[in-house]
Amino acid sequence: MPSYLITGVSRGLGTCSHCKQFAFLEHISSDASNTVIGLVRNIADTNAKVAPLNRNNIHIIEGDMKDYESLKKTVESVSAITSGTLDYIIANAGLVPTWSQFDPFSVLGEDPKRLTTELNELFSINVVGNIHLFNLFVPLVLKGNGKKIITITSGLADLDLAVKYQLYENAPYSISKAAMNMAVAKFQAEYEKDGVLFLGISPGSVNVGQFDNLTQEEAQKLMVQGAKFQAYAPHFQGPITTEQSVKAVLSVAENASLEMDDGGAFISHLGNKQWL
Ligand SMILES: NC(=O)c1ccc[n+]([C@@H]2O[C@H](COP(=O)([O-])OP(=O)(O)OC[C@H]3O[C@@H](n4cnc5c(N)ncnc54)[C@H](OP(=O)(O)O)[C@@H]3O)[C@@H](O)[C@H]2O)c1
Repeated sequence: MPSYLITGVSRGLGTCSHCKQFAFLEHISSDASNTVIGLVRNIADTNAKVAPLNRNNIHIIEGDMKDYESLKKTVESVSAITSGTLDYIIANAGLVPTWSQFDPFSVLGEDPKRLTTELNELFSINVVGNIHLFNLFVPLVLKGNGKKIITITSGLADLDLAVKYQLYENAPYSISKAAMNMAVAKFQAEYEKDGVLFLGISPGSVNVGQFDNLTQEEAQKLMVQGAKFQAYAPHFQGPITTEQSVKAVLSVAENASLEMDDGGAFISHLGNKQWL
């Protein structure tokens, strides 16, 4: 029975009740032979969302990516479910901020206190949280058969993309994702010898309802960013569905291997450096 620990299954790419489409939790648990453990901050809410699936291979546990002690406690819960082993981790939880999503640094810098808080929050959740998560769970993964630790990253962390298309948007978020890409590489450097694959996969631009309630001004800024995406990828028609993204990401994860030199890489849901 392959076991999966997936973080951030309360909504979005984890469990997209908003989209009424498959997301990581639904998709992976649809195979009854998989044991799927979802880590969330609010168990009651998530249990209510997944209850209609009526699947006894889903387990929801409580943990906050910002709180080391809470993550430490989840190791015991996971061990109890899987008898001390773990095959796969999908580090999907992430802070996706709205305040800093459209404006360039110079504008964000007009509120230095808020910019500092935003940068620190992003680092704490998207980078430090995942590093602690991996350190805590690698001992279980070493005892498992899957030995794959997937981090959901973002194409926005691509330096060339940012510079070539003047993509100044989402700067603090992009920095956190780029930092985590390096953490993935460092974990790979440490655990290659043990046969564990660490991989950062960008899910593409995915509709999880994040643009549903934009103000007119924000909608205009989104169009500015959209034009840059279009210049980069002329075929780009807008965000893909969670179902399209999750299937693609899982296929890339499944096909990736140390033998094929995928360890520590930063790639997209298309399995390469094409982000859209
Ligand atoms: N959607 C896209 O277009 C896109 C593109 C590139 C990369 N990504 C990446 O894909 C992943 C999922 O994103 P999404 O679009 O599904 O975003 P989302 O709808 O904002 O969901 C984020 C998830 O992360 C969880 N989370 C945030 N902070 C947490 C914390 N401190 N402790 C535990 N869980 C926490 C949230 O839980 P709560 O409900 O408790 O807040 C939620 O389940 C993220 O890593 C994101 O960076 C998304």
